[in-house]
Parts: sequence; C-alpha cells; structure tokens
Amino acid sequence: MSDISHTFAAPLLRGLYIGAFGRPMALVPGSALGAAEGEAPEALSVELPREEGPAAGALSASLAAWRGSHGGQHMPGCVVLRSGSERRAYWPGLGLDDARRRMERRDAAPLPVPPPTAEIAGSARRRSGVVEGRIALVTGGAQGFGEEIVRGLVASGALVYVADLNLAGAERLSSELNAAAGRAAAIPVSVNVSDEASVEAMFALVAERSGGLDLVVSNAGVLKASSVLEQELAAFKFVTDVNYVGFFLVTKHAGLLLRRQARLAALWPTDIVQVNSKSGLEGSNRNGSYAGSKFGGIGLVQSFALELVEWGIKVNAICPGNFLDGPLWSDPVKGLFVQYLQSGKVPGAKTVEDVRKAYEAKVPMRRGCVGEDVMRAIYYLVEQEYETGQALPVTGGQVMLS
Ligand SMILES: NC(=O)c1ccc[n+]([C@@H]2O[C@H](COP(=O)([O-])OP(=O)(O)OC[C@H]3O[C@@H](n4cnc5c(N)ncnc54)[C@H](O)[C@@H]3O)[C@@H](O)[C@H]2O)c1
Repeated sequence: MSDISHTFAAPLLRGLYIGAFGRPMALVPGSALGAAEGEAPEALSVELPREEGPAAGALSASLAAWRGSHGGQHMPGCVVLRSGSERRAYWPGLGLDDARRRMERRDAAPLPVPPPTAEIAGSARRRSGVVEGRIALVTGGAQGFGEEIVRGLVASGALVYVADLNLAGAERLSSELNAAAGRAAAIPVSVNVSDEASVEAMFALVAERSGGLDLVVSNAGVLKASSVLEQELAAFKFVTDVNYVGFFLVTKHAGLLLRRQARLAALWPTDIVQVNSKSGLEGSNRNGSYAGSKFGGIGLVQSFALELVEWGIKVNAICPGNFLDGPLWSDPVKGLFVQYLQSGKVPGAKTVEDVRKAYEAKVPMRRGCVGEDVMRAIYYLVEQEYETGQALPVTGGQVMLS
C-alpha cells in the first residue's frame, strides 16, 4: 500500500503547474522510486505533509526556493514527493502525450515558463478555443447529448474522459476519437453516477491519469415518463437517483479534487456544468419524476455554486430543449417518437414523422436542439469568468426565463 495517494497529491501538483503557467497542464505519476534510485538533479524534491493545507504550503515554499536558485523563469521538469520511506516522481507536460513522453524518457530538464500573454481589456477569446488543452470529464458520454459534447470538446482540442455505465460504448467512442485525432484525446472510464464508491473511484483514476481536471459535464440522465397516479415508487426513485443524487455525488467528488487543485492555482477558474433540461424550468405533464429531478438539480446548482465559488469552481446548468435527432427520441424501436405514436399522445398523428413535426411546431425556432447548440452554451459558460449558479436555456425560444 502506497503512502502517497495520487488522489491527494496529483491535483495539488497540477495546481502548482497551472498557477505558474496560467494554462491547463497534464501531470502523470512515474513508478515509485527504489531506495537506490537517485533523483534527477533538477527535480524539485518535497516531503509531503498529510493535511491538504500544509501540503500546499510545503509545495509552494519548496517551489519558491527552487525557482529562486534557477533564475525564476523555469518550472521543475519533475517533482519528487517523499512520504516516510516512499518517494514518487511526477512529470508535468503541455498535454498528456507530452507528460507521458517526458516521463518515459525520465526527462527532468527545467521547463521554461512563457511570459503571460497580454489580452486586450474587454476582448472575448475565440469561443471554442477556450477549452483547448483543458481536461474534461463527461458523464453519460457514450451516446446522445453526452457523445455530442465529447466529440465537440475533442474537436476543440480538449482531453476528455468519457464516463459511462456503458463502458463498451465509451471505449468504442474513445478509440475512434483517438485514432482520428492522432493524440491522447479521449479516455474511457466506467461509472455509475448513482453509486458513491463508483464516482469516487472515477475521480481517483482521473487524478492518477492526468493529475486533475478543468471541466466536469454532469450529463448522465434517465427518463421514465408516467402519470403520477400510476408510477411505481421504484421507477420514481430510479430517476431521482440518477438525475438528482447522481449530480450531488459527481459534484461532491469533483469538488474535492478541484478544491485540492485550486490550493495552488487560485486564479484558475474551473467548471462544473450540469446538463439539465427545459423540464427543469417548467413542469412536464405525466413526467413528474423527470421534471422534479431536474428542478431539484437547479436548486443544487445554485447552492453548490454559492459554496464552491471560494475555490474558483463555477457551477452552472444548461437547459436544452428536445434533442429530436438523438437516440432518446429517434431510436426506431424504443424512441419517444415511436412510443408517442403508439400511445396516441399526439392527436391525429399517423406516422413517426407526424409526431416529430408536432414537437418541432412547439419550438419558435422550429427545430429540435442539437449538439452544436449545447456546445456553444458550454463554451460560453467556460469562457465567462463572471457568472455562476445560472441555468441557461438552450431551447430555440420554447422556454424563456421569467
Ligand atoms: N434527449 C433530450 O431530448 C434531452 C433534452 C433535454 C435534456 N436532456 C438531458 O441530457 C442528458 C443526456 O440525455 P440523452 O437524451 O442524451 O440520454 P441518452 O439516454 O441518449 O444517453 C444517456 C447516457 O448516459 C448513460 N447513463 C445512464 N445512466 C447512467 C448512470 N447511472 N451512470 C453513468 N452513466 C449513465 C447511458 O449509458 C447513456 O450512454 C440527460 O441529463 C437528459 O436529461 C436530454
């Protein structure tokens, strides 16, 4: 059993590098150093206290001394943490591939810190570029809106953990994206967001694989529409457990990691974005378990935002309209179009296309929500450093805030 826990150490160290570089960094652990194995002469070597605050203080003080003796323009190419008899090296990089390469070569050469880029006051950065190099995690990332978000983030240069109950689906999507991108772009991870041990293990894996995170998209969600007079308690609880409790668990364990990272990167804002729904803003007939879980989600977003702002963690929700092209609606066997046609929910509809048209007609902009619409909202929330606790509708005008 190791004395040095990656979950504890890696986010602190990643924060140390983000604090110096002012940009997202990746960090990977090397194997534990043997007793006879020497440390790289240029490495920063630190005895790590067990409490978070003192550990951050020790890292910060050791780094200041190291930088003082290296001209002040560089960061260590490797950090060795010591705890009891154990020593472990960590390797930073501009992206996961860079960090891994440096670790494999045992390359501890000091890293030059580029001068801060001057930004024109009041200018907005290029919108999608805001996630370039960031490390993100998307729950429910294997299909539907989650898959769209994973694809969008990877296309914009992020490294994305594809977290899903359906591990095979997450693996398939990750392999496809890694092959197309020619870089470490997606990492599959198995999770059940309604199971605390599973969520905790997921964030431990993230700390170990890349040191930490910049953006968490809590997207996994389920729907079991039913009349309040008929719905079984088990079905009601299932929806609540995934949509409402799951968001609490993801925020709790993401928050612990992001707070650790923020100890030494106080000026680096991070984001938790909940994919909520227009049904979190107005009731949904015969769909109370879903709408209730989503309304509740907005209460959590506002409350978590108030607390986590202290650590530079923004918490916001996106409330999309119906994703009519996604599997939930369009699946030819169990999709909502087929279900609504069979149950006669849309009076006069004779085909799936009639049902679709009826739903498009409810939207002032006359179409369903698509992945790109949600991506624009995510880029906005990440780029906007002066907002938290909001629920942003993306509904083509179907639901408006009052
Ligand atoms: N589809 C829509 O029209 C629509 C509209 C507004 C909001 N939303 C919201 O968008 C989110 C995604 O919906 P979708 O329609 O793309 O869903 P989907 O059913 O197409 O995909 C959901 C994904 O989440 C995964 N998942 C389910 N339970 C999980 C759990 N316990 N732990 C981890 N992963 C789990 C599934 O395996 C699947 O890959 C949900 O939060 C949903 O409420 C959807």
